[in-house]
Amino acid sequence: MSRTRVLTGITTSGTPHLGNYAGAIRPAVAASRAADVESFYFLADYHALIKVQDPARVQRSTLEIAATWLACGLEPDKVWFYRQSDIPETTELMWLLTCVAGKGILNRAHAYKAAVDKNREAGEDDDAAVTAGLFMYPVLMAADILLFNANKVPVGRDQIQHIEMARDFGQRFNHLYGEATGREYFVLPEAHIEEQVATLPGLDGRKMSKSYDNTIPLFAPREQLRKLIAGIVTDSRAPGEAKDADGSHVFQLYQAFSTDAEAAAMRQAFADGIGWGDAKQALFERIDAEIAPQREQYEALMARPADIEAILRDGAQRLRTRYATPLMAELREAVGLRDLGRVPVAAVKAVDKATLPVIKQYREVDGRFYFKLVDGERVLLQSTGFAAPREVGELIGAMKAGTLTVHTIGQHASLGDGVAADEAQTALDAIVQAAKDKEAAKA
Ligand code: TRP
Repeated sequence: MSRTRVLTGITTSGTPHLGNYAGAIRPAVAASRAADVESFYFLADYHALIKVQDPARVQRSTLEIAATWLACGLEPDKVWFYRQSDIPETTELMWLLTCVAGKGILNRAHAYKAAVDKNREAGEDDDAAVTAGLFMYPVLMAADILLFNANKVPVGRDQIQHIEMARDFGQRFNHLYGEATGREYFVLPEAHIEEQVATLPGLDGRKMSKSYDNTIPLFAPREQLRKLIAGIVTDSRAPGEAKDADGSHVFQLYQAFSTDAEAAAMRQAFADGIGWGDAKQALFERIDAEIAPQREQYEALMARPADIEAILRDGAQRLRTRYATPLMAELREAVGLRDLGRVPVAAVKAVDKATLPVIKQYREVDGRFYFKLVDGERVLLQSTGFAAPREVGELIGAMKAGTLTVHTIGQHASLGDGVAADEAQTALDAIVQAAKDKEAAKA
């Protein structure tokens, strides 16, 4: 039984914060440990270029995110951990998908539509400052997913539409190129929505998010973490006054890092009027207790960026060999990006009869009998010498009947200069087919 393939992409456009940790990293690392899944985690650095055009920031973020996932326990020998731009088949597949993707579908993508709406509101041209990269975002994402035939893609609600598009492009490709061969090239992925992912409040109480500039960096040094937590906005209730745990951001954050028993105790402390300073100190201690070992790991990793580079390259290399390169070869074949030396029999048959390859039988000055398979001037296969013409006749008969091939002829013949076995076999196939056609015409 093949394991369920679960694929997660992380855009490398920022510094991981506590919200990313509780909402994505921590659950994903836990899920990667399940025995029945094959997990794919990648740094979506091509996607990052859509939003971030500051090269130093792209590099910095890629390093930070890679170090974060490793520090949080992702095991690169148990899961596929790689960087999108190390898999060139991604962009190659993106083009094949671009050529089956409906432009109208892309027009309806939320991210693109939001940009257009904003332009309209501002009285600008619809596409003002919209790059084709933003427009093509869903096709690149579909390539990420379809290249590895992922079954499940855990995403937030905002990404469901992208998974639907990936299904649509994959299905179109399967239909267009797979009907004839009976091959389903792509598995159609399913979005996996985590219903109770923790969304954490940020410093100002709104959802913790880069776009609100209210985040607490996951691996801020201990003292900085303490200061940031001390700065979380609260109401002005004094120590001794009862506080409502459920309405409090401090409590919500605490709950995301505590056991149920600890949360219950804190709830009681709120009811008993714990002061904000003490509550924040307890929150700080609780978070720090969970992340301190990982912070230490993170700092060690960040000091050895070349090691991270090596881990990512190794992952990508193995993954290409295992899946991306063979699938891409098959897809190129499917769409007709093919080796011109291997023209299918039907096409060879269609060319002028005079150019059909032939097997010639002849006698040399050494008195021995020979045959050769030739295509025009080109010698594709050359036999050794035989004492009796009958031996040559039998071999040629078997070749024309299709029972003896270039691959099974062994020491009786060798390939011409610079000729590949496949090329010689294709020529021989054409002869076999022509012989069959002739028989059929007679009957
Ligand atoms: N678009 C995703 C995000 O912003 C990142 C991503 C890129 C992704 N390619 C993917 C996620 C493929 C899942 C599968 O979060």
